[in-house]
Amino acid sequence: MFESLTTEANQILKTLYGIKDVFVDFEPPKDRTHGDLATSVALRIAKNVGQSPRDIAVRLSDGLSTSTSIEKVEVAGAGYVNIWLKPDALLSELKQTSEACVSQKTRKEDPVIIEFSQPNIAKPLAIHHIIGTVLGQALVNLYRHSGYPVVSWNYIGDWGTQFGKLAVAYEKWGKKKPVSKYSLDELLELYVQFHNEAEKDDTLEDLGRETFLALEKGDEKLRAFWEDVVTVTKSSLADIYKRLHVSFDLDMGESFYEDKMQPVLDEGKKKKVFVEGKEGALIVEFAEEKNMPPYLVLKGDGATLYSTRDIAQMRYRIDTYHPQEILICTDIAQQLHFQQLVETCTMLSWKLPSFENVLFGRMRFVDRSMSTRKGNVLELEHVIDEAVKRAHDIIKERGESIQTDAPEELGEMMGVSSLVYGILSQNRKMDMVFDWDKMLSFEGNSAPYLQYTHARAKSVLRKAGGEQHTCPKQIPSLAPTERGLVSSLLMFSKAIEDARSEHMPHKLANYLYQLCQDFNMFYNTESILQAEGEPRQLRLFLTSLTATVLKSGAELLTLRVPDRM
Ligand code: ARG
Repeated sequence: MFESLTTEANQILKTLYGIKDVFVDFEPPKDRTHGDLATSVALRIAKNVGQSPRDIAVRLSDGLSTSTSIEKVEVAGAGYVNIWLKPDALLSELKQTSEACVSQKTRKEDPVIIEFSQPNIAKPLAIHHIIGTVLGQALVNLYRHSGYPVVSWNYIGDWGTQFGKLAVAYEKWGKKKPVSKYSLDELLELYVQFHNEAEKDDTLEDLGRETFLALEKGDEKLRAFWEDVVTVTKSSLADIYKRLHVSFDLDMGESFYEDKMQPVLDEGKKKKVFVEGKEGALIVEFAEEKNMPPYLVLKGDGATLYSTRDIAQMRYRIDTYHPQEILICTDIAQQLHFQQLVETCTMLSWKLPSFENVLFGRMRFVDRSMSTRKGNVLELEHVIDEAVKRAHDIIKERGESIQTDAPEELGEMMGVSSLVYGILSQNRKMDMVFDWDKMLSFEGNSAPYLQYTHARAKSVLRKAGGEQHTCPKQIPSLAPTERGLVSSLLMFSKAIEDARSEHMPHKLANYLYQLCQDFNMFYNTESILQAEGEPRQLRLFLTSLTATVLKSGAELLTLRVPDRM
């Protein structure tokens, strides 16, 4: 952004101090009264140059004051340079905002593997699954938008002792119908029943384990049972993913690595990374300074574990995809597991691509009745239905003030987006607060506010009789709310880049919220449709660019925005 100005500033510093390769970092200041752009370069180079930052800033601003694109320049604080641009210079930068609304062509380079959602089979998705699911999809969208080839991966939990338990429960208490006719809720019931019975009867746990071992050894009946369970679960998951605008390139889960663990176990033993632990188990012991407990990779009875599959999974992904980066989204509880995993791979002398366990916090409910629900889990599907129902209620309540020719669709869009935005607008590293009122509010940092603002912009454009508006050539001055809106619009590509590179979609959400506020301020202050000539053209241009940015930004976050509302 602002390339010519950056070049100019670089040149000035070069001439003044003879330093090559300085990089002047122009950024919009947090406080808008400090101008359109600011730089702290004087503070950065002061030591090198041997002058006070303030002196450098003054000389830089003197140099810049003759620039054709600058209206006013000021030195502030210890050595900041604040710049106000001429309207034309500012508006011409909006070209890159329009460009940022369109996805870049996919580059020919190694892919980024993004793994997310990863539910365990035979259980319905629970409310907390939504966090990793929409976080991961947002990252996929952001990476793809920026031209990265992405492999999105749902590593489902379709292997492990829980299948032994489920098979036992089915055998003992199952209704006399084939598994394929079971609903997920019924399967969950069986699983819960197993745990209840196991509290009274401690032979059950062992039986479950043995049954899983038999499944691992290839017992045909168990295998068929397992396949049916996987099919039932996947088809029920598909419906929810569709409503959330989530999809995957691959869904090979833990079972896929069944035959890929032995070579890895052999390698680990040979390299003496996997050593014998208690009762014939295999473990990895880490150097003391790593401060991590041993990592169990094979049980004494020869059964493999979650960890064993993850080691095999790493090997497989590296060999098959040569990824430049692997991201695995999980909640914070898995942090140690992934630290141990990465360290184990390093000890095996594997060359790892850049790796991040994209962590997220737990969910906290403002509504007590949600957190204190005993027994069965809060199912995601029920929560989505509830959100949509609440959205419908609001639409009815608001009556005439909501214009729509498709209330059904609008309710679904509003309900689902409220839930998703409620999550993606929060810093993933913190606990997520689940608050119905906040999520569905029309005023605050919420999906309805964003959707409403988009629809408002669209409505202006409809009334103006066209959607496409170009920037006028000559603009002598900008009103404060116009300038505010332009500054906001200019930040779009940075918001995308920050959200993507830091794996923090809330940065994009918060950006969109700011843009909505700036647009509404502008909308409430300036007349758009009553204006004439260039001001009208400018305002319509800003309105249509705002609508495009809101839609494109919302879709990156898996949301949908209506044209009417
Ligand atoms: N299915 C696991 C769970 O629900 C999460 C899987 C995370 N990914 C991985 N590669 N281990 O706890």
